[in-house]
Amino acid sequence: PSGTTTAPDGGLRIGGCHVTELAARHGTPALLVDEGALRDRAGRYADGLAARRPDSMVAFASKAFPCTAVYRLLAEEGLGVDVASGGELALALAAGTDPAKVVVHGNAKTESYLRAAVEAGAGLIVIDNFDDIDRLEHLMAETPGAGRREQAVLVRVTPDIRPDTHAAVATGQRGSKFGMLLPEAREAIARLRACSRLRLDGLHVHIGSQILDTEPFVRAVAAVAELGRFPVYDLGGGLGARYTYDDRPPAIEAYLDALTAAADALLPAGARVIIEPGRSLVAEAGVSLYRVVTVKRSGGETFVAVDGGMGDNLEVPLYGQRFEATVATRVRVPGEGAPGERCRVVGRHCESGDVLSAGVFLPDPRPGDLIAVPATGAYTYSLANNYNAARRPPVVFCRDGRSRPVVRRETYADLMRRDLP
Ligand code: LLP
Repeated sequence: PSGTTTAPDGGLRIGGCHVTELAARHGTPALLVDEGALRDRAGRYADGLAARRPDSMVAFASKAFPCTAVYRLLAEEGLGVDVASGGELALALAAGTDPAKVVVHGNAKTESYLRAAVEAGAGLIVIDNFDDIDRLEHLMAETPGAGRREQAVLVRVTPDIRPDTHAAVATGQRGSKFGMLLPEAREAIARLRACSRLRLDGLHVHIGSQILDTEPFVRAVAAVAELGRFPVYDLGGGLGARYTYDDRPPAIEAYLDALTAAADALLPAGARVIIEPGRSLVAEAGVSLYRVVTVKRSGGETFVAVDGGMGDNLEVPLYGQRFEATVATRVRVPGEGAPGERCRVVGRHCESGDVLSAGVFLPDPRPGDLIAVPATGAYTYSLANNYNAARRPPVVFCRDGRSRPVVRRETYADLMRRDLP
């Protein structure tokens, strides 16, 4: 992250806060957020898109980090929000998000979710399937006073594009459970045009996540352009984040250049463009901090086992994501100094897939060391779980040398809170 530096004494700072002090104050494991870096990325997205397409909106794909403090911060930066469930909608509204800036998603939207969205005055509901149309039509007809007279909707198009990414996060290919292929999308468009209380504003497309090349995004714009001219196009999210030193995702600006060039060339001049970044907005603003519990050399491997793991970060077990890791008080710059020892940074959970970094060089790791895993702001908080009755870690915002927890660590009492006698 931008505000993250290595101090002359070798200690890492996040948002100007020394990690040793952060660990002493907030404990480990902890998810640290460089607030300045997050605001900076939000500004680059919002200002960058507005400069290229004046009538536009950046809607944060909140599944990437659905915590009220993050919703609040991004609302302050002028972003809208993409929600994919009643829970995300409730969090967004509780955090003060303008309902008009909410885009409502889901491939299996329940009636209660749709009702909550309509009643809240959500700006756009994205039609994923024909049942969405039936349910929403019925809802609008039966609740004359509660909802508004008209609900604006988009049709989610599946353009049959398969970007180079993990299968679990590819969504735009034929056979995807999301959206409608072009023939069905045409049928949905025709049906929606005949609905009196659903107003078809345009189209949505999202082809997948952690995409490291701009070309598939351009193809997606071309695919939706085939379906006709509309006032609104939501082009989804999916830009990859930089997890490791070797990853070279396009910069936000390069992505915006490619996307808006395609929009300028292929979409109507006055059309409103929406994008929904998740990972590329929040990943690099987060750093997970752990304490080394034990170092074990066995079978030719050096296992550095820390006090967190797959309870707070499932990216490695689920998607094979690669992360760097560093001893926070003895940061090693790649290519400089002795490389140290090749280690597997593993968690404390009861399974062998519980890995944080499968192969990383660490300088003489010892129990008690602090380990920082960078670029953990996306899909870690949201996929955190209580395996082995682990308490989910706090979220700590760090800025200008000051830290403030925005989510506290779970307690053992929290683990029993839902239990009935
Ligand atoms: N818009 C829609 C409709 C989406 O489904 C998604 C992500 C996004 C935007 C944001 O995509 P991003 O910019 O973050 O790539 N659990 C997986 C990620 C699943 C992403 C699903 N949809 C993970 O932890 O990697």
